[in-house]
Amino acid sequence: MIYFDNAATGGRKPDNVISAVSSAVKVCANPGRSGHKLSVACANLVQKCRNELDEFFNGYGFERVIFTKNCTEALNIALFGVLQKGDHVVASCMEHNSVLRPLERLKQAGKIDYDICPLSGEGANAKLDVALLSSMIKENTRLVAITSASNVNGYAPSIEKIKKALPQNVLLLCDGAQGAGHFPIDMQKQGVDMLTLAGHKGLHAVQGSGALLFSTRVNPTPLLYGGTGSMSVSLDMPDFYPDCLEAGTLAFPALLSLLEGVRYTKENLAFIEKRLLFLTQYAIKALSALPFCKVYSSPNPCGIVALKHDFLQSEFVAGTLSSKHGIAVRGGLHCAPLMHEALGTLDDGLVRVSLSHFNEEWEIDRLVSALKTIERD
Ligand code: ALA
Repeated sequence: MIYFDNAATGGRKPDNVISAVSSAVKVCANPGRSGHKLSVACANLVQKCRNELDEFFNGYGFERVIFTKNCTEALNIALFGVLQKGDHVVASCMEHNSVLRPLERLKQAGKIDYDICPLSGEGANAKLDVALLSSMIKENTRLVAITSASNVNGYAPSIEKIKKALPQNVLLLCDGAQGAGHFPIDMQKQGVDMLTLAGHKGLHAVQGSGALLFSTRVNPTPLLYGGTGSMSVSLDMPDFYPDCLEAGTLAFPALLSLLEGVRYTKENLAFIEKRLLFLTQYAIKALSALPFCKVYSSPNPCGIVALKHDFLQSEFVAGTLSSKHGIAVRGGLHCAPLMHEALGTLDDGLVRVSLSHFNEEWEIDRLVSALKTIERD
């Protein structure tokens, strides 16, 4: 199968990641729970993963790196665990439902209020207007939530410009699901207070490897209570990080894959960024030449090219590409309804082709040929 669904989950894992998962499954003790050699060895590897994530994203110390099962869980902790009654939030219309739904839930519970910053411009040229975003800040605005890159069309707003436009007291939450591993993210330099990660996408790890990194300006409270292997006599959660936000057994095989995935990504980041810019440019040029195809992406290092067929529904196109041509893409809505609304594609969604640096030009050529042959049944 030609795999073009890397924005949902990276399809091909590097060899060092595959070996790490395989060895973790063969010999796997519970990290941080027991004092025997195997448990301690696993705990040491988890600690290495924390240290290397902190270093890669220039975070605020290993204890402010906490592991979650996915980016959604990290975002829930960043929102439910930080926002307080009376807070106001500004989020962009590009945000995923993993940001929008917690915000809406908090609003419906009478705890917070939020506003959505729209995009200016149309289709592939739609951009975030930073001046407009900053004009939406109110006296009680506590946090701005912004994605590192849209999962719908790969557009990445400038985090630096957004940070510069915000008052000093406003927290910046960056959803790193689609940007991490595709271009450098430096929390301290860019002024990111909370960064959420999905290890199984651009960081080349397997599913179950999410993380939240947070600055010393925030002290998230737990959403989950339970055993941590520390302060076990107390009926309260430990009052220190990371333990206080990591109740329950950690997903050791996933975290070992994350450690190796981050190492691979760090070594190859410049190449990945350049290669995906080239491949998206290549795909956009070929797809734009099809008379029935409208492209909604500009070249981007996230590898995402979104398109709409003039006559056929996106789910139909995606289904036919899979069943008749062996090509995996995602059709329909991509869990970011306000972004589809901004792009004018809420009715039918988009066909999203999401590339990895492992993909080759001939695979894109095959997609273009396949699209030429698809007709309504
Ligand atoms: N959020 C993931 C995607 O964009 C699953 O496909």
